[in-house]
Amino acid sequence: MHVAVVGVGHVGLVTAACLAADGHHVVGMDDDASKIEGLHEGRIWFHEPDLPELVAEQEAAGRLSFTDDLAVALKEAEVVFVCVGTPPLPGGGPNLRYVEAVGRKVGELAERDVVLVEKSTVPANTGARLRGVIERELDRRGHDVTVHVASNPEFLREGQAVADTLRPDRVVYGTEHEDARDVLRRVYAPLLERTGAPAVETDVPTAELIKHASNAMLATRISFINQVARVCDAVGADVAVVAEGMGLDERIGPKFLQAGLGYGGSCFPKDVDAFIHLARQVGEDFLLLEEVRRINEGQREVVLRKLRDELWHLEAKVVTLLGAAFKPGTDDLREAPALYLARALLAEGATVRVYDPVALEAFAAEVEGVVAIDDPLEAMRDADAVVITTEWDEVRSLSPGDFLETLSYPIVIDARNAFDPDTMLDAGVRYHSMGRRSASDRAS
Ligand code: UDX
Repeated sequence: MHVAVVGVGHVGLVTAACLAADGHHVVGMDDDASKIEGLHEGRIWFHEPDLPELVAEQEAAGRLSFTDDLAVALKEAEVVFVCVGTPPLPGGGPNLRYVEAVGRKVGELAERDVVLVEKSTVPANTGARLRGVIERELDRRGHDVTVHVASNPEFLREGQAVADTLRPDRVVYGTEHEDARDVLRRVYAPLLERTGAPAVETDVPTAELIKHASNAMLATRISFINQVARVCDAVGADVAVVAEGMGLDERIGPKFLQAGLGYGGSCFPKDVDAFIHLARQVGEDFLLLEEVRRINEGQREVVLRKLRDELWHLEAKVVTLLGAAFKPGTDDLREAPALYLARALLAEGATVRVYDPVALEAFAAEVEGVVAIDDPLEAMRDADAVVITTEWDEVRSLSPGDFLETLSYPIVIDARNAFDPDTMLDAGVRYHSMGRRSASDRAS
């Protein structure tokens, strides 16, 4: 099939490359000519494993090309995936001007019948809005073509985006039109055949809600286990074993029960806000999700409290953050808890050093006053304490001896529960983590 993907950011580029890998002819389009130019030269401006290779392979096979001209992308397309950004607005809702602009332009430029598929994470009612915008454009030109709207949310994780897209747990698509459903069936037939993944066929609002509810549920699990971790800290229980014991119940399952510094990234914080916002718009106070957000933000305060407990005050202390990105495997700093911690520590008069294998420069550019060091041991040398902020392999592979030999006093706040408490405590590290045995328990 001929497919256009509008917006070649993280979601769009992965979608384009993976659809091409399943045999479709895909044109990726973006208004930002510099991005398109970069892609023509083989440059991708974000870190995503396997993506550069897949893009190059599909371009070489003649199934993937790029343009900054929407008319070119639309020329042969039967289906257009909308993957433009939906940045948050001050009130918590997403900014939908880019989604609207694509709808309007497709309504204006389409030369053949086409299905417009929302892939950007959008509030559950965007499909109806989009339909209105397109109808107006089609009215203007006398309805010589048909543009149907569909929703096909993505569930890809940064750092695993290619694998998640090529082998998804499920494919969800919603549309009210039989013709559009047929088009989406044909788009996904190769993937469904190849993987055996189930498809959920539904209407547009239900597909949109599946996306909202899935991300909200995952965020809720993380906040749930983080709140449990705080209680574990207070009663001397081990949250990792609690999570393991819970997860063995098939109804609960083991995933997304890793206590730590809370969720960050471009999706969960924004999507939780957007779902709260959407619920409020229809007269529902989603207090559960407001609490999820409050617990998540509170995890950073838990870390600061642990630091203050050990260091008494933070003024003139040197604190090293091991990890900048919001999780390993990505250079994304959006809503990274390390940003918040660095700013809070600087505000309390500490010197903040940071190490990260991929996001160091961007972090230093974002937080004025941090000292960026590209070697974890150097970053820790003679520091007063270290906080494990991202569980990179480069960080996990450090030994207790590395902390004992480099820090001025071996205080480690493991905000990601990346190390084994007994190994660290037995070696003599003043070790604290989130909801597990700590140096203070040993002392008592
Ligand atoms: C997420 C969803 O997983 C994906 O389906 C959706 O499409 C986009 O949002 P992503 O933001 O890439 O993907 O990251 P993910 O791997 O889900 O982790 C999100 C955050 O939660 C990270 O900060 C991670 O450290 C944290 N997390 C995850 C926990 O704190 N505990 C866990 O058990 C799992």
